[in-house]
Amino acid sequence: PATLGAAAAAKGRTFGAGVTAAKLADSAYVGILDREFSSVTPENEMKLDATEPQRGQFSFGPADRVVQHAQARGMKVRGHSLLWHSGQPGWLQSLTGPVLREAMLNHVTQVAAHFRGQVVSWDVVDEAFADTGGRRRDSNFQRTGDDWIEAAFRAARAADPGAKLCYNDYNVEDWASQKTQAVYAMVRDFKQRGVPIDCVGLQSHFGFGIPYPASYRTTLSSFAALGVDVEISQLDVVGSGAEQAGTYRRVVEDCLAVARCTGITVWGVRDTDSWRSSGTPLLFDGAGNPKAAYDAVLAALTSR
Ligand code: G3I
Repeated sequence: PATLGAAAAAKGRTFGAGVTAAKLADSAYVGILDREFSSVTPENEMKLDATEPQRGQFSFGPADRVVQHAQARGMKVRGHSLLWHSGQPGWLQSLTGPVLREAMLNHVTQVAAHFRGQVVSWDVVDEAFADTGGRRRDSNFQRTGDDWIEAAFRAARAADPGAKLCYNDYNVEDWASQKTQAVYAMVRDFKQRGVPIDCVGLQSHFGFGIPYPASYRTTLSSFAALGVDVEISQLDVVGSGAEQAGTYRRVVEDCLAVARCTGITVWGVRDTDSWRSSGTPLLFDGAGNPKAAYDAVLAALTSR
């Protein structure tokens, strides 16, 4: 197979990209997206500030455009994200207690219902754990009670019973880290108590602070052994040349080694599309040419 999407499909996986609705007007960008990728994740268009800018007033235009683009081309859509501590609109930041809880769950219900049947998997909750100490991150959502995460998953399941429901986070790639262990314990608890969770997303932004860990495959297989799928949800690798290509290759090999690693999403198309303010973290250069990292990914996907 000559493309990432086709090669991944031959291995029963999806290969996706984080996309921005505004760039769907850029023909070079769209040309690569449509040729190479079998899944899309809107980078920002489904977030709370975009979809509910005023309380109870929903706005789906840009997100719908991404979904329509994907559906017209047979690409899957990952929903990102229903609840996140960051990027909250002012109206939400001003609420507390039961009123906040109600608004939070209403948001989950309304957005999941709008996209019912169109989103393969949702990041229901993103980044709810603190970077250190194995604790929950302090946030307005967390201050409504420890059970806010499971309440969100139950609301999402009710609104779109066909979507896979994921917990998503960064810095959960190294099996030895306290943060990974804390997320693992939550997922195990959810599975034991019947809280509806189907998948875990490992963002996998590998760079200065977070190197690719040797234990990555162990992390993937350990989550999978709990009975959830694992998705590499926002992959990028700071660096260049052979070293960067080697990391990308290992990530793909690790995913292919774990049956329940169902897909890989890179967080952007070309280096110039990346959220990172500098560097060359993606698979295509600014001119749209495939890099050594691309060749390494394709080779890993097609090996054996
Ligand atoms: O759309 C406006 C544009 O009109 C304006 O001219 C421009 C000026 O700065 O800003 C544009 O909005 C920016 C948006 O990206 C689109 O480019 C926002 O300021 C900027 O904050 C936003 O950054 C996004 C970031 O999340 C914060 O929401 C990145 O694109 C997105 O890649 C990044 O994604 C996150 C995941 O959701 C969670 N995991 C980490 C990941 C990387 O930070």
